[in-house]
Amino acid sequence: MLKKSLALLALLCLTFALVACGGNEDASNDASDTTDDSTSEDTSSDSEEASGDGGKVEIFSWWTGAGEEDGLLALIDLFEEKHPDIEVENAAVAGGAGTNAKAVLAARMQGNDPPSTFQVHGGAELNESWVAADMMQPLNDFYEEQGLMDKFPQDLIDMVSKDGNIYSVPVNIHRGNVIFYNKAVFEENGIEVPTTIDEFINVLSQLQDAGVTPLALGDKEAWTATQIFENLLLASLGPDDYRALFAGEIGFDDERVREAAENFKTILGYINDDHASRNWQDASQLVGEGEAAMTNMGDWAKGYFNNDLELETNVDFGYFAFPGTTEDFMVITDTFGLPQGVENPDQVKEFLSVLGSVEGQDAFNPLKGSIPARVDADKSKYDEYGTDTMEDFQNNNLTPSLAHGSAAAEGFLTKVNQEVNIFVTQQNVDQFIEKLQQAAGDL
Ligand code: GAL
Repeated sequence: MLKKSLALLALLCLTFALVACGGNEDASNDASDTTDDSTSEDTSSDSEEASGDGGKVEIFSWWTGAGEEDGLLALIDLFEEKHPDIEVENAAVAGGAGTNAKAVLAARMQGNDPPSTFQVHGGAELNESWVAADMMQPLNDFYEEQGLMDKFPQDLIDMVSKDGNIYSVPVNIHRGNVIFYNKAVFEENGIEVPTTIDEFINVLSQLQDAGVTPLALGDKEAWTATQIFENLLLASLGPDDYRALFAGEIGFDDERVREAAENFKTILGYINDDHASRNWQDASQLVGEGEAAMTNMGDWAKGYFNNDLELETNVDFGYFAFPGTTEDFMVITDTFGLPQGVENPDQVKEFLSVLGSVEGQDAFNPLKGSIPARVDADKSKYDEYGTDTMEDFQNNNLTPSLAHGSAAAEGFLTKVNQEVNIFVTQQNVDQFIEKLQQAAGDL
């Protein structure tokens, strides 16, 4: 009981922190505000068949706009085909990594107005917030009925489970430790793909000497820089100690954390000057158009390159694992669950069933840039990036992303994002380490 009250209290604090942070970010729960007219109108179906006789499902996510929404729209189309009587409302809130959506969601959950289902990362973001506060319904029976128990890797089921209960259905697996690069820029400058941090720094310096912007960053939203730092932590600590760091078993005063921070500082010497005014799409665009050589981004950038910039995988752009982490896979999984108190759980389960099916995953993932969470999806639907990534997922060490909610609770991540933001400007390693150590008291 005490634990539950504490969890609720933490959630409440988080709500206020997030609403305060997101206040000037133009949060909106109307997808049509932020996207062109081909989005929410298409999906919030008003056709005669979808008259809502079978109820309504409101799908909450942060997938709006370039590089984000194509997969979701394809999934919604498939659902509407199968359930023409159920109305779909696409309640997406723009902002990468849920920058604004998480605040809107927290306010709605607190106000007893949950969406029918919402995007949530497996791991701490699901389990230490919503499940701990008793706001999600267990889906064990649903998994059994749908025959899903052996359709996802056990590691993934563990990420969406707490105390023996399963609370959400993963739609995908994204990889966070990827560097995308412009093939022509690499060729023109005779660049070899770097595999270690030292080689990476040499390549950055070589490109800078040649007058090319080596690394594109868009940290208008701080998570993009946090993502670089987490990959540097993984490179310095290795997978086991990276996990131990977020389990509170290794301190942030560890020499290898300092090494990661020093590397971070060095790498920040090679980014575009206007990084603070760009988001992840704007930064990726620099690479797509050959104005920068590389960017570290989760593989939703692959969807953006293919679908929005119309670039071809392994022709226009290439990819490699973040140097120093070539044997590792930074896992980001988007999942959807069933909140307590929704009016029409049966219809929501119909949506989860489509989302969890082979057909649903293969409609969503090739467009999103991710690989299917299911083990039995149809590989022929994916390009070389997809099949390479499926293979790496099977063979590499899997580590949970901090920047995308899995490694540690939201309160800690919010603090890390703030400190990273300050570090990008001030680049004071001692102060950064000290602040991280203070924040880690919460782990
Ligand atoms: C991640 C999410 C991805 C993608 C990305 C950028 O947190 O898991 O699906 O949307 O943010 O917004």
